[in-house]
Amino acid sequence: MSSYIIKGGTKLEGKVTISGSKNSALPILAATILNAGKTTLYNVPNIQDTQKMLEILTALGGKVEKKKQKIIIDTSTINKQEIPDHLMHQMRSSVILAGALIGRFHQATFTYPGGCDIGSRPIDLHLKAFEKLGIGVVQSYGEMQCQAEQIIGEKIDLDFPSVGATENAILASVLAEGKTLITNSAREPEIIDLQNFLNKMGAKVKGAGNNEIEVEGVKRLKEVSYNIMPDRIESGTFLCLAAITGGNIRLQNANPIHVTPIINKLEEAGCEIQTKSNEIMIKAPKKLKAVDIKTMPYPGFPTDMQSIFATTFCTAKGTSIIVENIFENRFKYVQELNKMGAKITVEGKSAIIRGVRRLYGASVKATDLRGGAALVVAGVAAKGMTVVGNIEYILRGYEKFDQKLRGLGADIEISEVI
Ligand code: EPZ
Repeated sequence: MSSYIIKGGTKLEGKVTISGSKNSALPILAATILNAGKTTLYNVPNIQDTQKMLEILTALGGKVEKKKQKIIIDTSTINKQEIPDHLMHQMRSSVILAGALIGRFHQATFTYPGGCDIGSRPIDLHLKAFEKLGIGVVQSYGEMQCQAEQIIGEKIDLDFPSVGATENAILASVLAEGKTLITNSAREPEIIDLQNFLNKMGAKVKGAGNNEIEVEGVKRLKEVSYNIMPDRIESGTFLCLAAITGGNIRLQNANPIHVTPIINKLEEAGCEIQTKSNEIMIKAPKKLKAVDIKTMPYPGFPTDMQSIFATTFCTAKGTSIIVENIFENRFKYVQELNKMGAKITVEGKSAIIRGVRRLYGASVKATDLRGGAALVVAGVAAKGMTVVGNIEYILRGYEKFDQKLRGLGADIEISEVI
């Protein structure tokens, strides 16, 4: 397992380029299955999760060619519809391949992806959506077998605006007979990116970004190239790195609209933020004012920013309260932060963060992707040396994280722990 070695206490200054969105690239990589041909994708972040997704596409029989700025995927040769079990377990979000495999082949076999560090993460809404489309789902000992003679468009009412279930319902209905209407759909920007990609291939999807999405089935899709949208959680992470260090940074290739809730809260805390169409500039005060947040489905405050925000407000003036409404187990990082001098208590869905004068370096371990990123934020701000272990979690979702941090003046190195 590797670690980050961070010597904290520097103000971050300068500019950083935001990478392509992990949570947009993953469903779009799955969607390349639908055109049974070639797709050229630009701005796919080079992180462990996208590498895993490419590995699965290859295991299914697809061909992947990586060039400097682009990835060419040929899914015409895919001849398997069973997602390899060990890869399912290595990456939960591979469940998104099911919708694409069923959409094209009318069948898919995969194992229950299982919970992960932030909650049980069931897929009942995905399976209910498939069944609504006339897809038979047989579950036995954790294995799901999905099969359909025909896929007929239908109305799908989601009990909860699940991002993955919305994406899977879209992917399973793009090549169906007739129209599908998905109500109470998730409104995340990554779903708009997926809609734009599918429509460029010739699909007929509309309404993404709203709570009703209509998919009119088409017969076939064409070969296209597409540029993945910027990663809004990486943008939020670097905004918080500036905020906690009293820094002054410019984010390039960032979409300010996608991070509106984060910008609003950081301005409330005393940061000066200016935006252009694809840039965000932030100048932070010496000390932040405490704020309260409640995580909600988009366009509310994103759950993926919860741990990073909690860290940012550890040294604010006053007490901040964070309520986590999306996942049931997303405070595991708190015990690690408290080793660094934070004063956070967790009561049910809420974390109470009493501002302290400063954080101190310590040896801590990442518990999950965003919890790990939060510990890096804490280490960059803390006085002294911090060792963050289990950084494989973090490498899943952040491209060149240590390199980008050094570019802003942070003292951070990777050490391969034997
Ligand atoms: C996506 O996960 C993201 N992952 C997550 O980002 C993000 O936290 C989440 O959406 C919420 O925004 C990707 O896009 C790859 P959900 P997903 O289905 O689709 C419950 C990160 O750090 N639920 O919207 O799995 C579920 O338990 C990751 O980048 C059901 O009950 O999230 C959770 O409580 C972490 N049944 C809530 O809905 C279902 O069938 C939201 O889950 C599906 C979900």
